[in-house]
Amino acid sequence: MEKELISKVKKNVKIQEIIAHYIPLNKSGKNFKCICPFHTDHEPSMIINPDKQLYKCFVCNGGGDVYNFVMNYENIPFIEAYQKVVEIGGLSDEYLRGLQKRKVYEPYSENEKAIHALNEKISRYMEYHVMQNIDGSFEYLSSRGLSEQTVKQFRFGYLPDANKLIEFLKANKYTNEELLKSNFFILNKNNSIYCPFEKRITIPIHDSRNKLVGFGARRFVDEKQKAKYINSTESEIFHKSEVLFNYYQALNEVYKTKEIYLVEGYMDAIMLSDKGIHNVVAVMGTALTEQHIQLLNGIKNIKVHVCFDMDTAGKEATLRAFKLLSKSNIQHDAVWYEQAKDPAELLQKNGSLDTISWFEFFLNYQLERYGDLSCNESAINDLLYEWQNVESPIMRNHYFKMISDKTGLDLSVLKEQVDYIKQKEKIPYQNRNKSKGNDLASLLKNKQRIFSHE
Ligand code: UTP
Ligand code: MN
Repeated sequence: MEKELISKVKKNVKIQEIIAHYIPLNKSGKNFKCICPFHTDHEPSMIINPDKQLYKCFVCNGGGDVYNFVMNYENIPFIEAYQKVVEIGGLSDEYLRGLQKRKVYEPYSENEKAIHALNEKISRYMEYHVMQNIDGSFEYLSSRGLSEQTVKQFRFGYLPDANKLIEFLKANKYTNEELLKSNFFILNKNNSIYCPFEKRITIPIHDSRNKLVGFGARRFVDEKQKAKYINSTESEIFHKSEVLFNYYQALNEVYKTKEIYLVEGYMDAIMLSDKGIHNVVAVMGTALTEQHIQLLNGIKNIKVHVCFDMDTAGKEATLRAFKLLSKSNIQHDAVWYEQAKDPAELLQKNGSLDTISWFEFFLNYQLERYGDLSCNESAINDLLYEWQNVESPIMRNHYFKMISDKTGLDLSVLKEQVDYIKQKEKIPYQNRNKSKGNDLASLLKNKQRIFSHE
């Protein structure tokens, strides 16, 4: 990398603004002060000096420039810290050219930027109607338990009359062609522009860099014949399978906690956030994909709490998510609950989202599916095959006992069964999944929409 570029970026951002992106700062004379994030600090021991563009902690002695801070805070290599500084500092994409290592950092094309800007305009127009409670739109959101602050923060919108919006945009010099690019409008058979989002509550969807790439929309009056949700159609800038709803917004809390809650739908995510869990993202009714995994993998040492609905579709989706997460060595566990219909309701009832290990989740699922497992050899074998993938001796021991406890089979019998399988199949355990395909992965049926909705 060019040294010149590195120092130019440093000159063009303010260290206090970049740090303030991560933690709250207080002004103290010419400097800024904050609680040091690199040790257990109670008094603000970190000083940021805007003149020198340096930070320094007087307790743990950590210090350096803006790149050092981001590298240490996010635990990422220099090159990634550089990219973050450019992004957070709002510098032009010019600084990222030639650095297109990760797709998320490719500069946006002019066309994409134009669509983002149009989406922003549309969103602001619709947000206004919610705040005015047109057709009871704000009331609906309140009735679902959302605070005004959450409604504003997630930028809920409502569109009473699509034609008025079209007029408004045309008055702002937008042509039909440009409007169609936003995917908020579609062309009718008789070549006129039409908007499927009319009379729905809208939710803007942002990509991983916080650009507005699409909308989801929920019916809110009782019109059961209409689909509950519709989304912007897939386009150049909007791919549902690549976006995790609320990803960018969640990042701050995610970096702090190193944990992330993964839910099925936007409403689940918004409800959790409303109740204080801000490190939450949603797959939007589709399966977790490799692209989603890449986004999660961008955060070092992350642990993913899978919190899908507890119907069969949600449970199977959880197991598929486990498979993908473990393939990428991302730590994971999940919620298991009976007393609520979704994680939001669970949180409301219990005040917390308690998780169990992925293994216990699978064991519970087998028990629920087959009932008594003590004579069900294939179900027990499935458990043992998953168990053998556990590397840690401590966890192996723990899970082995768990199988015994929950099935009533003696430890000695289970051990014999392990030997028996090994001997009978005469193939190493590891190959078995590939040869027979009745492991968790076989649940992957390659379906696009995996959650069952009404
Ligand atoms: P859910 O039906 O679980 O929605 O669908 P939800 O988020 O819990 O919303 P509420 O609480 O009923 O309002 C989960 C996700 O599946 C997609 C949406 O992305 C939704 O957030 N979905 C669902 C659709 O795209 N179309 C539908 O008709 C239903
Ligand atoms: Mn739901």
